[in-house]
Amino acid sequence: MDQDIDRILYSKSDINKACIRLGQELHQAYHDKNPVIVCVLTGGVFFTTDIVREMDCNLEMNFIDVSSYHGGTESSGSIDLVRDLDVDIKDRDIILMEDIVDTGRTLKYIKDLLSSRGAASVSTCALLDKPTSRLVEVRAEYVGFEIPSEFLVGYGLDYKGIYRNLPYIGILKSDVYT
Ligand code: PRP
Repeated sequence: MDQDIDRILYSKSDINKACIRLGQELHQAYHDKNPVIVCVLTGGVFFTTDIVREMDCNLEMNFIDVSSYHGGTESSGSIDLVRDLDVDIKDRDIILMEDIVDTGRTLKYIKDLLSSRGAASVSTCALLDKPTSRLVEVRAEYVGFEIPSEFLVGYGLDYKGIYRNLPYIGILKSDVYT
């Protein structure tokens, strides 16, 4: 897989440091709230499992899956709920875990959905935030890195389902997807 990467943007060590910082911030804010950590599948799995291990507090975990990209590099615009939560979130404090916020459509859809179910609060922790690509107004409260508009893979981020297991985040060579 390495041969398809143009440049490493964040190394394993960079990601680890960001996870420690964000885990500590979340611990400070949620240590007495027994939050529900909602991992947005599939890309958010790596980030979620690293973050929760930095949080020394009671928490529960649950999973949701929506689809917004359909195999290519462009967002389709429509969001489908693929897998719903299996826990009642009424009056619960929710932390959404995302690998990346790009157009913001996915995050807005999930935030609105969980708020409509009576969550006490819904905040978002995203490893990567691409604010220049935003098409809907939404923000993540806890962010690892603000990133440029490049096509990134690794540490959960995929292209056509592959590259997620790279331990770093890198820029995919354009000839791979053109
Ligand atoms: C990716 C990523 C975010 C979303 C961000 O998910 O994990 O959930 O896109 O894009 P947006 O801000 O433009 O909505 P994707 O739908 O590709 O699913 P995946 O995590 O299974 O790859």
